[in-house]
Amino acid sequence: DSMPAEDYVSKEQWGSRIGVVLAVAGSAVGLGNFLRFPGQAAQNGGGAFLLPYFISLLVLGIPLCWAEWTMGRFSGVRGFHSAPGVFSVACRTPKARYLSVFALLIPLVIYMYYIVIEAWCLSYAWNYFTGDLMLGEDSDAYTAYFDNTVGMNTDGHVFGKGSSMLGFILITFAVNFVLIYRGVSAGIETFCKFAIPLMVVCALCVLVRVLTLPSEQVSAGLGFMWNPKPEALTDPKTWLAASGQIFFSLSVGFGVIINYSSYLGKKDDVVLSGLTACSMNEFFEVCLGGLITLPAAFIFLGASVASFGTFGLGFNALPNVFAQMPAGQLFGFLWFFMLFLAAITSSLSMLQPVIAFFEEGFALERHVSSTFLGMIALAGTFFVVYFSKGLKALDTLDFWVGTFLIFVLAMIQAVIYGWVFGIVRGEREAHVGAHLRIPHFVQLILKYVVPVYLGAIFVAFCYQNV
Ligand code: PFF
Repeated sequence: DSMPAEDYVSKEQWGSRIGVVLAVAGSAVGLGNFLRFPGQAAQNGGGAFLLPYFISLLVLGIPLCWAEWTMGRFSGVRGFHSAPGVFSVACRTPKARYLSVFALLIPLVIYMYYIVIEAWCLSYAWNYFTGDLMLGEDSDAYTAYFDNTVGMNTDGHVFGKGSSMLGFILITFAVNFVLIYRGVSAGIETFCKFAIPLMVVCALCVLVRVLTLPSEQVSAGLGFMWNPKPEALTDPKTWLAASGQIFFSLSVGFGVIINYSSYLGKKDDVVLSGLTACSMNEFFEVCLGGLITLPAAFIFLGASVASFGTFGLGFNALPNVFAQMPAGQLFGFLWFFMLFLAAITSSLSMLQPVIAFFEEGFALERHVSSTFLGMIALAGTFFVVYFSKGLKALDTLDFWVGTFLIFVLAMIQAVIYGWVFGIVRGEREAHVGAHLRIPHFVQLILKYVVPVYLGAIFVAFCYQNV
């Protein structure tokens, strides 16, 4: 039972160092940064959320990222790129591959609903472009628009009358498919290299617009987002939400980074690359996501924004904000187009782990495996859309797969790295080709603190949700 299949050798490899960093950052920077982060912060104590958030980043996020980069490259240079392969190599037993099912399942299932939201963003961008989304200052108008355009099965119809959402879903799917089909370097890397700088430009334009609104409004808006409500710190839910956000946002615990880093060369620097990708993600999340979404919504809509859920914030509150600001149509377009780019660079990363598995486990050629997988994914997406009552299927999947299973996989990876692969080997392997040293205590954190921290969160999580 050796893997990969005898006659299969992956030809994939990244084109350049900056390319792989941008691809990983592209996976990390997504809807999580601009919609989920402000939503979580608003629901969990505003500024007080940031303390557990940064602790989770330092204790869980960055160390686990390094562990994934290290194990991914380690097994990649030995010819194994899929999660079953990586786990087998890291554990030195093919039996370990069974532990990796989540690393295939999680990204695939997330993909099925993530591209639906991605298509919403494209549709909103388009409707700003045409002006259809300039609906005035009445919040109900945006709710009605949202329900009719994207609302799923709310009144017996999948989409409302005249909604072109199906078309947008198919376009989104096609763009993803073409890029995935072209491969790691020609598809994913090339796209990320152009999309990420463009996202920075679009987001900065919107940020400047928001921060140059009348200053007393701006400071009230920022205060809402950043003033801590310290009582939130004693609530375990805040800590849970903070670490969940870190995982979701950094794409850690998904099986994505082990796969992406497996296409690195022997001498590539995993320490600096991993850290750079994490830092870019934090820049987008804290500096752009954190300074735009909530403050802007607060400026125009007041404290009621705390009652908007994540989707309400993105697709109801913000459109209302754009309607009220000068040149709102332009900024609305830039914003939703940027969200679409952010989402697509993330969704691209969700299929690659499974493609690697098909290639490696069944010796399927990339074009065959991506076509086959594309069909499975599309069927899943239609299932989510057509069988959901409202957004129920989406919420359920996001909770069980996008939150619960990620903890499980992160835990498995931490134990494999700390206790089976071993921190001595891990530390040595991480530093091959590295220009930076990881402080030694990070290894100890990975071995002892991460499993305990995750275990505690996990217990609290089960306790609260059963
Ligand atoms: N990190 C992405 C975000 O913040 O939106 C989401 C994501 C990417 C989830 C890749 C899963 C995944 F495999």
